Amino acid sequence: MRHLISLKEQSKEDILTMLTMAIRLKEKRSAGELTNLLPNQTLIMLFQKTSTRTRLSFEAGMTELGGHAIFLDSRTSQFSLTDFGDEIQAVMRYGAVLMFRAKKAEDVVRAAGFNKIPVIDACSEKYHPAQALSDILTMAEHSSGIENVKKIVWMGIENNVSNTLILACAKLGIKVYIVAPEVNEPSIDPELNRMADETGNVVRALNIAEAMKDADYVHTDTWMDMEYFEDGKVKPGFQKIYEERKAKFMPYQVSAKLIDTYAPACKIMHCMPCHIGYEITRDAIDHKNAVIFNQAENRMHMQKAMILWLLNKEI
Ligand code: CP
Repeated sequence: MRHLISLKEQSKEDILTMLTMAIRLKEKRSAGELTNLLPNQTLIMLFQKTSTRTRLSFEAGMTELGGHAIFLDSRTSQFSLTDFGDEIQAVMRYGAVLMFRAKKAEDVVRAAGFNKIPVIDACSEKYHPAQALSDILTMAEHSSGIENVKKIVWMGIENNVSNTLILACAKLGIKVYIVAPEVNEPSIDPELNRMADETGNVVRALNIAEAMKDADYVHTDTWMDMEYFEDGKVKPGFQKIYEERKAKFMPYQVSAKLIDTYAPACKIMHCMPCHIGYEITRDAIDHKNAVIFNQAENRMHMQKAMILWLLNKEI
């Protein structure tokens, strides 16, 4: 049974197959053709954390595939009252695929381990395969083919989103420069790092000029924890860590100046939500090179391909 958890299990060919399927699905949608390949099938969407894009894109995607998606919030269901293993086994009896935004990747792995239905990690502390594969689609579109993407930069903090993006790109032969003064501790997966490093495509460097030179895309994500804030102000107990984080990461902020200075042709990507004034500036989001909203839309097209691929369907 196929699962999409960390992309460690997927080959370059698997990634390219899903990319081809996503491109076809998007083309068909643009042409007004139906792609209702999953009538009467249900996607279960279990969330232990909040979401805008992941929920909407999976739900809309499943509708467009002719099926149905059920949103299940762990806080308003019985998960807190009982054993996770028992509850998730019951949940999986109702659907064809489980999409799980979990606090802990180990719970996604546990759900997949029952091998009852395909499971997608929909952003745990370690992985975000749906984001990474969707970002491959966005880069393929904006470079007239993924084979034309030679170099990307991950700027800011290494985390769950960077893990899966770096591995997917490295498997595809894309050079990945990681410009990150810190790694988010809970996201660390030594096996994933080893697999990415063994491709020879991953470079860790803090020299921005070197990293950005001839880069096709720069990606970033939040390095400021939103728990530090209340009503737009820093909570008193978090002032010290807030100042430390700002000092450490601000040199790696993605801005129009960064692009215009070091890589004028480089496109700007952000998985959203954007924390303006921290990892990205307003002028970077509004920059002519930004492809952030296409990136958000492409979540839906790629996730339709992921669901079909998991169910061994073709398009
Ligand atoms: N990028 C992403 O996963 O967005 P949401 O948290 O809004 O789902």
